[in-house]
Amino acid sequence: MQYISIAIDGPAGAGKSTVAKQVAECLHLMYIDTGAMYRAVTWKLLQAGVSLEDNSTIGEIVQDLDIRLSDENGRLRVLVDGQDVTQDIRSPEVTRLVSHVSRFRQVRDRLVALQRQYAKQQAVVMDGRDIGSNVLPDAKVKIFLTASIEERAERRVAELQNKGYAITIDEVRQELVKRDQMDMEREIAPLRQASDAQVVDTTNKTIEEVVKQILTIYYDAT
Ligand code: C5P
Repeated sequence: MQYISIAIDGPAGAGKSTVAKQVAECLHLMYIDTGAMYRAVTWKLLQAGVSLEDNSTIGEIVQDLDIRLSDENGRLRVLVDGQDVTQDIRSPEVTRLVSHVSRFRQVRDRLVALQRQYAKQQAVVMDGRDIGSNVLPDAKVKIFLTASIEERAERRVAELQNKGYAITIDEVRQELVKRDQMDMEREIAPLRQASDAQVVDTTNKTIEEVVKQILTIYYDAT
C-alpha cells in the first residue's frame, strides 16, 4: 500500500520545519525532519573528532549510527545512539559543517534509506532538500517553500538570539547563502525544485496562512 505523503523542500530558513510540523499535526501524519538527520550525523562526527576529509571513517560511523526521531506529546526529539541531541544539533558549529557532511554518498545513502523506510510504514510530512526530487519522487503532494533572503535571515537571527547565541544578521545571511549554494551545487541529490512541485513563497505571510495554503493544496490533490 502506498501512503499519501507530503514532500516539502526549499532553501535554508524558509520556514519548512515550522510549517511541516503544523501540517503534520493538522492531518495526524508523522513529521520527518530530514535536516535533523544530517545534523545528527554532523554532530556525531564532531564528537568523534573525525576529519571531514576522511571518507572511509565517515562511512563506517554513519553505517553503525542509530538515529531516531521521536514525537513526545508534540515535542520532537532526535536521538543518536540513545543520546538526546535535539538541542545540540542546532548549534552554529553543526550548522556551519552540515552541508559539507551532507555531500558524502555514504551519508546520503544511509539517511535516504531510513527516510524511505519511515514513509513505507505510514503517511508522512517530510521536509528537506531532495524529498520531492529524490527521496519520495511519488509523493502525491510536493511543495517548494521559499522566502526572500532578507526575511529568512531575520527569522533565523531572531530564533538564534532567543536561544542565547550572539550572532548578527550579516553573519546569518552569509551562512544561509553559503549553505544554499553548497546544497544546490553538490553532486548527489542537490537542492532543487521537483518539476511537479508547487512553489509556496512565505515572504510576508504568517505561519497560519502558509499552513492553510498547503492544506488546500493537499485537499485538492487527494
Ligand atoms: O533543514 P536544515 O536546515 O536543518 O538542514 C541542514 C542541512 O542538511 C542542509 O543545509 C543540507 O546540507 C542537509 N540536508 C540535505 N538533504 C535533506 C535535508 C537536509 O542535504 N533532505
